[in-house]
Amino acid sequence: MNLTSEEQALLRGELGEGAKLAMKILVGLGEAFGAEKMAPISRAHVALSNQDADLWFAEKLLEAGARCRVPPTINPGFCRDFFRSAGLVSEPDLAQMDRTHRAYQALGARLSFSCTPYLLDNIPRFGEITAFSESSATPFVNSVWGARTNRESSQSALCAAVAGRTPVYGFLLDENRLGQAVVEVTAEMRDDFDYSLLGWLTPKLAPGLVPVFTGLPASTGPEALTNLGAELNTAGAVPMFHILGLTPEAPTLDQALGGRPPQKTVSVSRADLEEMKKNLFEPAGPIDFVMFGCPHHTLDQVRQAAELVDGRTLRAELWILTSCYTLEMAERMGLGEKIRRARGRIVPDTCVDQPVWKHLEGRKGATDSPKCAYYTKRRGLRFVLGSLEQCVRAALTGEMK
Ligand code: F3S
Repeated sequence: MNLTSEEQALLRGELGEGAKLAMKILVGLGEAFGAEKMAPISRAHVALSNQDADLWFAEKLLEAGARCRVPPTINPGFCRDFFRSAGLVSEPDLAQMDRTHRAYQALGARLSFSCTPYLLDNIPRFGEITAFSESSATPFVNSVWGARTNRESSQSALCAAVAGRTPVYGFLLDENRLGQAVVEVTAEMRDDFDYSLLGWLTPKLAPGLVPVFTGLPASTGPEALTNLGAELNTAGAVPMFHILGLTPEAPTLDQALGGRPPQKTVSVSRADLEEMKKNLFEPAGPIDFVMFGCPHHTLDQVRQAAELVDGRTLRAELWILTSCYTLEMAERMGLGEKIRRARGRIVPDTCVDQPVWKHLEGRKGATDSPKCAYYTKRRGLRFVLGSLEQCVRAALTGEMK
């Protein structure tokens, strides 16, 4: 790789052993992908997992004296005070969360603990070079904001934040951002949940290809776009999509495809979405709990849930995970109070894939997120899928229809 004199100094360790280690990893990564050079980044997001390997790596960088040149936002772990007072977390897991908190604080990260920073406090501009990990974040950053990021791991994103640069390959290059498959959506999209189903289905129809969706309304909102990207990337490692007439690199089909014919053209009907939903995860029936917020729910989603439960009492547990920013707004607007009165819980800083849900093991829940259902299988949680409204109604009655 062609490195600038500053990059060579970083690699020699002249700016510290931590920066040297980060740079060494980034150069190795760049060489593996045929990158010719590095580019400075102005933003990063680290999808920390709060698990052993993640913490080991963060502490290793820290012990070597690393400090982030570009302070990244970070993914959720779990809200220690809430789960401790609720008696839902073990002392070793609390200690691990505390160590994770301390390590990232010492590295200079922004302790945002949310998986939707691209809607909150880490919003890139068009064309900006960034390093984002987190499966819902990379597609949103690339596709909706038109900024550039590869599908980073939490480790490579952290190295980029420490070194302030990333190797130039993959989705940083114009040619790799072009659409490769056309997905003609003939289904009328009824709600944000339909976009989750579309995202889960598309990689099965056009594996490994960057999709260009046609037939979707230009009014498609942020929650639907978040769902689409999260499921594309979870089901098929697809970190970029285009929507004709909506996303910035797809003003015309020709521009989205770069003047090339699509490698594949597929269509998605209402029947396809219904079939997909029927075959995903658990069948309908009685449920014990509802889990929302994978990715973290927005204020509008919290408002929808609060209005549906207002003045009623839930028969099943309702958990809504969100960012601390959204929680603050929800409290100000009286939404938190409405949810609590119905016996629901709204919790900040927390991920579904954390060791705080042991009491739900072996029980059946409902969620609006295939990603949630998929990730938590290994923790013994079982889910039936439905829209936000269907799930709230299921929490009120104890049964998903
Ligand atoms: Fe967020 Fe965790 Fe889901 S990071 S997207 S709640 S798996």
